[in-house]
Amino acid sequence: MDSLKSQKKQKIFNELARMQQRDFCFSSGHILGSMCTVPHPVAREAYMQFLETNLGDPELCPGTKEIESRYIAFISKFLHAPKTSAGQIVSGGTEGNITAMWIAKQLSGKKEILLPTSAHFSFQKIASLMGMKLVEVPVTNEYVMDVSRLKKKIRKNTVAVVGLAGSTELGTIDPIPEMSDFCFDEHIFFHVDAAFGGFVIPFLKKLHYKVPNFDFRLKGVCSISIDSHKMGYAAIPLGTLMVRRKQWLESISVDSPYISSEKQAGMLGTRSGAPVAAAYAVAQYLGQDGYKKMVESCMDVTQYAKNRITALGLSLMMKPTMNVIGVRLKKPGVVVKKLSEQGWRVNKVERLSCIRLVLMPQITKQIIDEFIPVLQKTCEEVGEL
Ligand SMILES: Cc1ncc(COP(=O)(O)O)c(C=O)c1O
Repeated sequence: MDSLKSQKKQKIFNELARMQQRDFCFSSGHILGSMCTVPHPVAREAYMQFLETNLGDPELCPGTKEIESRYIAFISKFLHAPKTSAGQIVSGGTEGNITAMWIAKQLSGKKEILLPTSAHFSFQKIASLMGMKLVEVPVTNEYVMDVSRLKKKIRKNTVAVVGLAGSTELGTIDPIPEMSDFCFDEHIFFHVDAAFGGFVIPFLKKLHYKVPNFDFRLKGVCSISIDSHKMGYAAIPLGTLMVRRKQWLESISVDSPYISSEKQAGMLGTRSGAPVAAAYAVAQYLGQDGYKKMVESCMDVTQYAKNRITALGLSLMMKPTMNVIGVRLKKPGVVVKKLSEQGWRVNKVERLSCIRLVLMPQITKQIIDEFIPVLQKTCEEVGEL
């Protein structure tokens, strides 16, 4: 009987392994276009330990709930949130953005979101889900929101302005301080999407890069979405939405009969405590110094990759702001497909006619050295070089 069971299990796991083998994996170093990474070993260990927890019913797991509270306190301090603030754990940038716009809509009843053309596609989902209208604001030659154009687009029905602290396509940072002042004066809800840049910008500052402020020290910033499963080096799925006032979260709370807490805020019900424990553990383990070293090393690899790519004769979209490089190409889709056939994943940005490389912590100079000849050969074959 036991041997039958173990044979069955073996068969299932062989099947799983066969399918998994088809996946690209972060640890191979061949994923150069994703904003996610191999979870830090500490995150992995904590994740496994908390696999059976459910933060949707917090009285069942007061210990895990305490970890969540501590993690939110860490993010709050990290983003210089005021005492009045509150945080909501979310699955990532998409849910963070959805939740922020849900709050803005609840607070004012208005429906027009002003956002840069470079905003993440999660806002398309928001428009569709909540019947909201997206009003795009053009970007400047540096691919950041043009604030003078923003000012002209404000209407009576404007519910919120969105700024990017690390755009998906090129890692650019909108002029958040200027946007914050403007929104504060106009009494408009200002959401900062720092899904990618939230764990990068504070350390770039410490490393003396010239980057704008983006956090709650700016009085007009109402909410910030920041992802731990991107540059926070944690495990998928985890992000945090911080809001300036606790009662704003209450505005999206509902009564939650038949579970232990009286009210529940946010979109999800049952949700795992594992990614929260993982993010908390890795934040404790790395500390500010560990994150700073990680960002320093990512920027070093970015600079190296930039030099090697331009030495081939390819041109960049712009000088990288953070660890994201846009390479200008005539046929980005063709190049991406050919690279993929050779086992390398980069992302295409058809809209800007470029490919995007994201130099995450697992990408080393050695990996770049392996990649460059493949990129060169591919670009020669398709007439980009
Ligand atoms: C700026 C920004 N916002 C939101 C998201 C969505 O995040 P997620 O895929 O974790 O939901 C991304 C994803 O890359 C992003 O770059």
